[in-house]
Amino acid sequence: MKREIKTTSDGSKTLYINELNENYHSHHGALQEAKHVFIDNGLNLIKDCDINILELGFGTGLNVLVSIDEFLKTDKNHKIHYFTLEKYPINIDEVTELNYGSLFSKNEMSEIFLKIHNAHWSKKTEIWPNFFLTKYQADFFELKNLDLPKIDLVYFDCFGARVQPDLWEKPLFELVADTMKSGGLLTTYSSKGSVRRILTALNFKVEKKSGPPGKREMINAIKN
Ligand SMILES: C[S@@+](CC[C@H](N)C(=O)[O-])C[C@H]1O[C@@H](n2cnc3c(N)ncnc32)[C@H](O)[C@@H]1O
Repeated sequence: MKREIKTTSDGSKTLYINELNENYHSHHGALQEAKHVFIDNGLNLIKDCDINILELGFGTGLNVLVSIDEFLKTDKNHKIHYFTLEKYPINIDEVTELNYGSLFSKNEMSEIFLKIHNAHWSKKTEIWPNFFLTKYQADFFELKNLDLPKIDLVYFDCFGARVQPDLWEKPLFELVADTMKSGGLLTTYSSKGSVRRILTALNFKVEKKSGPPGKREMINAIKN
């Protein structure tokens, strides 16, 4: 499907799929949404120890980039292993136009953004000492076939249920839950009641958090 680049309210860009009328990020601000949902209500709740992160899906690579930016603020002595799945990778012209490295004050972020995109599929790549990325070009339902370590933190960042309802139902959450450690955290921008009920039924402790600008609530779920 054809994608176009749009600028969101915080000045950061996103991709938009016309046929689905769906953005990759909130039009209120791609960068501020990524930081709020996945860093403030995700990585920063468990940082500074060795962790395994699983992301659904990789998309523009913005969540990887904000995670590295956060990691670079630490002593960098712990290891982050970041695993991400994507079925429909974006192309290099889109990567160049998104230009996410320019959103950060550190000079090296543009180089890091390219390194993230140039990393080979299915190959563990050290993007920065102690920050390892493995991207899989795969359908989310292939999760069970991947040889992943137990996951501490899930970034559940699928397109909305309006366009991909099957990704917000029990079968996928069950697969994701199976990858996670007990005590692991799943964070998502969604606040759907059906998602909360599914996660509760899968033995997660579900918390509603305040959402990023433009969205009242979001979900954090801790696996029991
Ligand atoms: C909301 S976007 C992800 C945004 C991304 N985290 C970022 O920072 O740009 C959802 C992503 O899921 C991908 N996707 C959709 N259906 C998929 C599927 N069945 N399996 C794997 N990836 C899928 C889309 O191509 C898109 O890149």
